[in-house]
Amino acid sequence: MEKLIIVGGKKLKGSIPISGAKNATLPLICAALLLDGKLILDNVPELKDVYTLMEILSSMGAKTQFSDNHLEIDCSNIENTFASYDLVKTMRASILVLGPLLTRFGKAKVSLPGGCAIGSRPVDQHLKALESLGAKILIEEGYVIAEGQLIGAEVYFDMPTVGGTENIILAATLALGTTVVNNAAMEPEIVDLCKCLRSMGANIVGDGTSVITIEGVSELNSSKHTVMADRIEAGTFVIASAITDSNLTLTNIRKKDFSSILSKLTQAGISLVEDENGVTVYRDKRLKAVDIQTQPHPGFPTDMQAQFTVLNCVADGVGTVEETIFENRFMHVAELNRMNANISIHGSHAKVVGNCKFKGATVMATDLRASASLVIAGLVAEGTTTVERIYHLDRGYENIEAKLQSVGASVTRITS
Ligand code: UD1
Repeated sequence: MEKLIIVGGKKLKGSIPISGAKNATLPLICAALLLDGKLILDNVPELKDVYTLMEILSSMGAKTQFSDNHLEIDCSNIENTFASYDLVKTMRASILVLGPLLTRFGKAKVSLPGGCAIGSRPVDQHLKALESLGAKILIEEGYVIAEGQLIGAEVYFDMPTVGGTENIILAATLALGTTVVNNAAMEPEIVDLCKCLRSMGANIVGDGTSVITIEGVSELNSSKHTVMADRIEAGTFVIASAITDSNLTLTNIRKKDFSSILSKLTQAGISLVEDENGVTVYRDKRLKAVDIQTQPHPGFPTDMQAQFTVLNCVADGVGTVEETIFENRFMHVAELNRMNANISIHGSHAKVVGNCKFKGATVMATDLRASASLVIAGLVAEGTTTVERIYHLDRGYENIEAKLQSVGASVTRITS
């Protein structure tokens, strides 16, 4: 089992390159399944989740080659349309193979992903949307068994679901006729997916808004796409810089990529200055605690909630953090309290009392963003913090310890 050992209290200096976005990469890899040809992706982060999805595609007969953040996927010779529980259970986004397989081959058998640490996370909206396009869907022994020729239709989501929106877009690209997705999620990663699909010959308009229209085409062509920057990784390093009173510069990212957290950064006393080198983080003498409520894009992202909780811990005042997307996303709170934070949970709200002096402790990572919050708390803590179960972190942060070491942090990975 690997752990990170962090000796806190060091000021950080220099620049960190931001990787390609995990949440954009995963649906883009699934888009390759639509093609009787090759999809080439650049700026692909080397992450556990990327390797898991490559393994799922390989198990179906896809040929993949991945090095130096350059990924080539050839799905010309798909032999089966089956995704096993053993592979799917480790990563919920695997359900995104369902739409492409069904639309290209008329059938698919994909394991249900099951629950995960941050909540029950059902896929009912994905299935309902595919049924609107005429899919026949059965659930048997934990597997989604889907078949049928897809025909464009109106789709209405009960809530803006990121994965559900991506799955139906992927399916609709090769469906007969026009699909209109209502109450679609508007995340930038969906826009990146549509940009790539358009380069493959898909006919899509409205991505980035709540109504997306897809006119099905009979086939797509080989293409090349560069994955967008990871706005959540970048946001995590902004908070790391601010709480350690540093001025990190983040490269490969633009200020506009921070739009959903910008107003909360400003309220907290953090400013971002963009120049030709990247985006540099500045802060007021004192940070101020902020109230946040997680929302679908363009609202405040749930994937930045844990990191802002850490910010509130060290800032002046009291901040309230409300989680509205996932029902169980406060597991970092107990661990932060073990590091001397003063946070109390009341239902979906956490009250964070500021001016805490974090003290190093052994803490356990429980999910991806919770892990990141523990690492950044460790950077500012007095003494040594040991973060256990960092496999969660490796699912979503490329070379995090190397990036932090390069700006002067004391972060070491050990295997026990
Ligand atoms: C994606 C992101 C994840 C982020 C989340 C919310 C990826 C790979 N993951 O996850 O990092 O935290 O968006 O921004 O992009 N829901 C249903 N039924 C469904 C689908 C969703 O009830 O069929 C609910 C979920 O339980 C949740 C809400 O809808 O309460 C939003 O979930 P969704 O946007 O689908 O999240 P993911 O796509 O799983």
